[in-house]
Amino acid sequence: MIFCICLNPAVDMTCRMDAPFRAGGVNRLTEMMPFAGGKGVNVARFLRQFGADVCISGFLGGANGKVIEGVLEAEGAECCFTMVRGNTRCNRNIIDSAGNVTEVLESGPFVGPDQILSFMETFQDRLNDAEILIISGSVPQSVPSDIYATMLKIASAKKVPAIIDTTGGSLRAAMKECPMMIKPNLSEFTSYLGKDISGRDDAIKAMDDLIYQKKASSILLSRGRDGLIYSNREIRICAEGIKLNAVNTVSCGDAAVAGYAYSYIRGADIRECVSQALLWSASAALKEESGQLDISFVKENEKNINLYTI
Ligand SMILES: Nc1ncnc2c1ncn2[C@@H]1O[C@H](COP(=O)(O)OP(=O)(O)OP(=O)(O)O)[C@@H](O)[C@H]1O
Ligand SMILES: [Mg+2]
Repeated sequence: MIFCICLNPAVDMTCRMDAPFRAGGVNRLTEMMPFAGGKGVNVARFLRQFGADVCISGFLGGANGKVIEGVLEAEGAECCFTMVRGNTRCNRNIIDSAGNVTEVLESGPFVGPDQILSFMETFQDRLNDAEILIISGSVPQSVPSDIYATMLKIASAKKVPAIIDTTGGSLRAAMKECPMMIKPNLSEFTSYLGKDISGRDDAIKAMDDLIYQKKASSILLSRGRDGLIYSNREIRICAEGIKLNAVNTVSCGDAAVAGYAYSYIRGADIRECVSQALLWSASAALKEESGQLDISFVKENEKNINLYTI
């Protein structure tokens, strides 16, 4: 089973108006389309499209929590969320008649100490059946930012390999536990390093330094349309971005993580894992809805990717 963690899921609501948006005025929405969101939710949904055995855990609450759980269960993921009293956040993207996009974001419900305890119990229990752990996204405000580090320590004791895709203080804390893989994008990576990266070779040097310092066993750096760079102690792989007309690149990084993990637990070699990460992420860019990918694109383009070692 692939164990996905999403502590802070969200309903992503795409809203449309047939008039210009007016700050400080009354704005009437003509259409509202809710989508299940949150990075770990996206990962689980990508994996289910390929039929993987998936369990997902985190915190959910209220009507929005029910929407997310409903989508995941309908798609065949095992849900073992801890319920909280408030409502799971809803992030609104308001597109007006001129095509201007206004985002209205919520911070998410309060998670109390009892709920954190209950989550950790479920986490330890389901980890026993996990072949790989994937931790994605932000930590809710009321949860200690080193919770990922604690979870990685437990996973390591149970010999479950872990991939983590997060930012800021929770990434910093997690890297003290040297997870099997981190998956930053370029801006997350430069913000972690506190300096700019000038091209591929510079990126590889910075990745090698972190691996040498045992901050992660491997790094999969995603570079948007430019593709992926993978590095561990033995091998560095560059996967050139696939040329396509992207429709929506939100959640492409989540697809890369899902594709890598899916191949990894099937015993594929690292080149194959990186190839699948590239294919899944590129095909996600072709879909309007986050968390969805084009399976036929993945299968049809397996021979067309440009991957080389350095
Ligand atoms: N415009 C694009 N054309 C082709 N491939 C793309 C494009 N954008 C993204 N990809 C693919 O998706 C991968 C991940 O993209 P990106 O680096 O933007 O991830 P991300 O910022 O972590 O995304 P998110 O956090 O929203 O999931 C890239 O390495 C690439 O393979
Ligand atoms: Mg990302």
